[in-house]
Amino acid sequence: TQCSVFSLLALETIVMAGIHSIMFWKKMFSETLRGARVLVTGASTGIGEQMAYHYARFGAQLVITARREKVLQQVVEKCLSLGAQKALYIAGDMATESDPDKVVEFTLEKLGGLDYLVLNHIGPTPFSVWKGDIEHTRWLMKVM
Ligand SMILES: NC(=O)c1ccc[n+]([C@@H]2O[C@H](COP(=O)([O-])OP(=O)(O)OC[C@H]3O[C@@H](n4cnc5c(N)ncnc54)[C@H](OP(=O)(O)O)[C@@H]3O)[C@@H](O)[C@H]2O)c1
Repeated sequence: TQCSVFSLLALETIVMAGIHSIMFWKKMFSETLRGARVLVTGASTGIGEQMAYHYARFGAQLVITARREKVLQQVVEKCLSLGAQKALYIAGDMATESDPDKVVEFTLEKLGGLDYLVLNHIGPTPFSVWKGDIEHTRWLMKVM
């Protein structure tokens, strides 16, 4: 019985230490990201959209970008409703020469600087054996 009491105490200590470390990291992240200036690319859908929402929940200042303006508008509205200090979008095509620069300049001007850059945009890549489509691969390299 003495042995099982010690096991219970050890288990309780481990659980409490786990809970405290989760709370510590959560607090640290929320304090670090509140007001942080963040640019997320490829933020109209998928992983980029969800990352934008996470930064928004922490109270960051966001600029999001992708090609589809209408969808970006909706993501910006949701970011604001989730608690973003600021949420702006700029539509742009990363496969062009000028749009990447425009996006960065817009961000620096509107946020007054940049703390986090999340490069997430990607063109469609079919999961299959490569069939020698050089044009598509060349285009993808430009997007990235
Ligand atoms: N999903 C997965 O299982 C997985 C696994 C491992 C790694 N990843 C990586 O995670 C990233 C996001 O994946 P995802 O599944 O979230 O992809 P996704 O849903 O297809 O989203 C891609 C994003 O990139 C944007 N985009 C595409 N082409 C663009 C261009 N030319 N210029 C600007 N923006 C462009 C799209 O918006 P618009 O169409 O509006 O431009 C969209 O917002 C990718 O880098 C992917 O390789 C994903």
